[in-house]
Amino acid sequence: MPLQANPLLNRFLIVSVIVLGIAASSSAQNAKSHPWSNPSLSPDERASMVVKEMTLDEKITLLHGTGMAGLSPMSPLAVHSNGGAGYVPGIPRLGIPALQMSDAAYGVRSSGENGRYSTALPADVAGAASWDLEAGYEYGALIGRELRAQGYNMTLGGGINLTREPRNGRTFEYLGEDPVLAGKMVGAVMKGLQAQHVIGDIKHYALNNQESGRNAVNVNIDKRAARESDLLAFEIGLQESDAAAVMCSYNRVNGDYACENKYLLTDLLKKDWNFKGFVLSDWGGTHSLEKASAAGLDHEEPGEIFYGDDFKKAVESGEMPATELDDHVQRILRSMFAAGVVDDPPQKSVVDVVGGFEVAQRIAEQGTVLLKNANGQLPLDATKVHSIAIIGPHADVGMISGGGSAQVDPPGGNAIMPPGKGNTHWQDHIWFPTSPLKSIRVKAPGAKVQFDSGADPAAAAALAKSADVAIIFAHKWESEGMDLDSLSLPDNQDELIAKVAAANPHTVVVLETGTAVTMPWADQVSGILEAWFAGSRGAEAVANILFGDVNPSAKLPMTFPRSEADLPHPTLVKSPKATIDADRQGWKRIAAGLPVFQVTYDEGVKVGYKWYDAENKPVLFPFGYGLSYTTYSYSNLNVTPGKNPHVTFTVTNTGNRAGAEIAEVYASLPAAAAEPPKRLVGWSKVKLNAGESKDVTVDVDPKYLSIFNVEKNAWELLPGDYGIMVGGSSQTLPLKASVSLK
Ligand code: BGC
Repeated sequence: MPLQANPLLNRFLIVSVIVLGIAASSSAQNAKSHPWSNPSLSPDERASMVVKEMTLDEKITLLHGTGMAGLSPMSPLAVHSNGGAGYVPGIPRLGIPALQMSDAAYGVRSSGENGRYSTALPADVAGAASWDLEAGYEYGALIGRELRAQGYNMTLGGGINLTREPRNGRTFEYLGEDPVLAGKMVGAVMKGLQAQHVIGDIKHYALNNQESGRNAVNVNIDKRAARESDLLAFEIGLQESDAAAVMCSYNRVNGDYACENKYLLTDLLKKDWNFKGFVLSDWGGTHSLEKASAAGLDHEEPGEIFYGDDFKKAVESGEMPATELDDHVQRILRSMFAAGVVDDPPQKSVVDVVGGFEVAQRIAEQGTVLLKNANGQLPLDATKVHSIAIIGPHADVGMISGGGSAQVDPPGGNAIMPPGKGNTHWQDHIWFPTSPLKSIRVKAPGAKVQFDSGADPAAAAALAKSADVAIIFAHKWESEGMDLDSLSLPDNQDELIAKVAAANPHTVVVLETGTAVTMPWADQVSGILEAWFAGSRGAEAVANILFGDVNPSAKLPMTFPRSEADLPHPTLVKSPKATIDADRQGWKRIAAGLPVFQVTYDEGVKVGYKWYDAENKPVLFPFGYGLSYTTYSYSNLNVTPGKNPHVTFTVTNTGNRAGAEIAEVYASLPAAAAEPPKRLVGWSKVKLNAGESKDVTVDVDPKYLSIFNVEKNAWELLPGDYGIMVGGSSQTLPLKASVSLK
């Protein structure tokens, strides 16, 4: 049809041409007035161009958040926040968007109170138990997508503090006890996240290994031990991912608060590791202006106790160098350009609920560890099991999650509350509506599946006695802002399990915990699964494993000790007084610096398995341990020395079903290194059909074989004989070879 024949279409085309024309001319104008909008320039070039155009006030705006009730004064600008923990206004005249930050450890936090929805993945520690970098990437990518869908462009996730103290209430938010595993996993999560054009953040830098007295504690540790343990995890995470932000932690490290610790922030992070991004303080973790700024803190959260007017005045009067200010601003802007939040701002959209469930379930299946399976108790055969007793508090309706700033709101609210009354509050015990009872009924439609809460152990035992199989769902809740008094299951669950196991020899325990727990009943039950805080689809994942639709492959990212007495510090050092009272003056007292108390990590580098190995202490379940429904054998170890020693070996699936084996490679260093007996230096997750063999190669990064030489301030590969050990757990290493390096 000729154009003039349709006036309506004609009008549309003309309008379109005009609109396109305006867009083109405005983008041409933009390019002229905002030359930094050119994406072919480097993030650093773009940021420096913007910094040159900025007024002092604009620069100060980027240095701090806009406040948080109870923690700092609120600015009226906070009304533009998207509802996350942090908000930093943008600079519209220069085309710089606001920073909208949300906590997002295992999903986007506070969705409920903002009238939104987000997927709860299994807790981070479960992700680590998958030892699967692709799963880590998927984990980060899902969170990144949901952050964007909800209008956020920066995560506050990425916790990586090592499980030096398994009673730390945040262990579920972290990635286990080994720096190589934790560093590589957080790197994968950050890559997935930043690929969605969201600023990634790794936290809490550093040595925030306990919550008790976190705003006051001074952590004492020697430099070499710190570099080879907790700090190595950060070093690897940043190297792997280029995460654009690092959150400094609340505690003091060797005398100085982490957020004003020049060694941590400048000497190490910004100089040695060449970190180009920005450092933001944990919420209320800033304690000074000049000292913090000179030490390398770029941004204060949540408000402007130090980094607002006082910063401005100090620059105006010449007390603080303008170059220091510019460096902070440059780093924040370059991170925004590098992560893509300027070129590709988030568009609010509907979260992909179904897609999120699929990812959450897949990762839960990959992260659930089979710890015991006596006499092939599992998988259950639905055609042969006629009756099942499901026992445990709330196992009829849900699975528990970890609390604090990581807490994700479950769809429909807390499963144990009346519908619509399930708003989440700080440190509530939140149960996700993923029902073990229902999921198991789906798997065994022909069986009589009955439930008992376990409130009366005798009644639960009677039900168990009448069933073919008893499955107990046991839990231990934990959260930010608290540490666990012990590693025991609470609320008489040990007694419940013992009674049920005595009544039925076919008892399987499913653990919902964020950390290691002790198991006085371990010898009495026939099966144990560690499901961690299993997320939105935990019950479906657990049921798939119980009935063999999924062959478990996860391995423990932390040692399960036999008792607290075997920990490096049998008693956790708590602050002499409660850290703060929740009053309006609390933030002022934190900011001024609470009276210090000391914690000394004299176990040094001996974190987790390195401790138990060195001290010859038997454990309940070792690091790297996890069973499968098939079996594997290892053969043909070969180690080729060189810059990146090359370790090759063969793994064979010797059982009768397909599976995935996490093949672990450990090294022992020459005696002169005076290191613990072994350290993890690499691994490979190998998928194998029944009877199949595969040759595996693991190239070892020489840093993982090195010691940190404090005098030379460098990693050093000592000449000598290195032992290389390969196998399926840190204590089952059938292949051994020795290689001489240098
Ligand atoms: C936590 C951080 C969190 C921040 C913002 C702090 O209490 O330690 O991990 O990102 O709050 O919610």
